[in-house]
Amino acid sequence: MKDKVVLITGASSGIGRALAFAFGQEGAHIVICARKADTLQAVHAELTQAGITVLSLTADVSVEADVKQVIEQTIARFDRLDILINNAGISMRSMLIDTDPAVIQRVMDINFMGTVYATRYALPYIQQTKGSIVGISSIAGYRGLPVRSGYSASKFAMNGFLEAVRTELLHTGVHVLTACPGFTASNIRVAALDAHGQAKGETMRDESSMMSAEECAGHILRAVKNRKRELILTTQGKLTVFINKWLPALADKLVYNALAKEKDSPLKKRVKE
Ligand SMILES: NC(=O)c1ccc[n+]([C@@H]2O[C@H](COP(=O)([O-])OP(=O)(O)OC[C@H]3O[C@@H](n4cnc5c(N)ncnc54)[C@H](OP(=O)(O)O)[C@@H]3O)[C@@H](O)[C@H]2O)c1
Repeated sequence: MKDKVVLITGASSGIGRALAFAFGQEGAHIVICARKADTLQAVHAELTQAGITVLSLTADVSVEADVKQVIEQTIARFDRLDILINNAGISMRSMLIDTDPAVIQRVMDINFMGTVYATRYALPYIQQTKGSIVGISSIAGYRGLPVRSGYSASKFAMNGFLEAVRTELLHTGVHVLTACPGFTASNIRVAALDAHGQAKGETMRDESSMMSAEECAGHILRAVKNRKRELILTTQGKLTVFINKWLPALADKLVYNALAKEKDSPLKKRVKE
């Protein structure tokens, strides 16, 4: 990773922040972006203090012009781009029947179109370095999750997009990784949108029992180094993908029952708490 240039979207929190440290500690120059300037600046200061070269840019990945500018400023500063990590993401939590479709549009604009814009504008530079394009997708990109229909759709869209792009680039030397974390402790559930597009403001799961963002970032770093095409994390995540592939009707029931146990779940509770 020494002197490689790594652009991580949504790196002011959680997995993105941990990725910035993981790649930075290996000698890479890091470009980070997010919407909130204050938290971004705080992470910038922490990375600098750790001796990591960092460029931080305020940007909303759902705004094409913002993303274009992030790529342009990366090239203006470092004159190359080796690795793009499409990490910026947002979740939603509400039953479809209650959900304003604009919420699903917003989630698609950030998670999917954000990935499309960054990958499109970074691609000419990544082709030059024969580098890596990474998408931080989710187990929800393999298995639709109730109460998160928009989130699941956005991650399925990411998976299909990355698979198509990987195949398009098969003979170019560019590496494409679809990384699918399982439940990982972060701010994602707190920032998730409710039926009307407001942040939930609290998590409904025990964050302390989840994989840490640092461990998750370590797995992703290794997968990039080994140029893997796919990474599925956590035992529960691997099991979910496996059962869904071979016994999809059973997976419907298991997923329903598991998510009905979440605090404040709107799913009918047919299982004992
Ligand atoms: N944590 C999990 O359990 C889990 C599991 C599977 C997959 N993932 C995926 O991992 C990725 C990172 O999530 P996380 O868990 O680390 O969540 P997080 O702690 O909420 O971090 C999300 C990051 O994305 C940024 N962001 C959100 N919307 C953005 C936008 N429109 N433009 C630019 N930046 C934006 C946030 O900063 P601002 O709000 O300031 O923009 C923040 O830095 C997401 O794609 C998520 O879907 C997470």
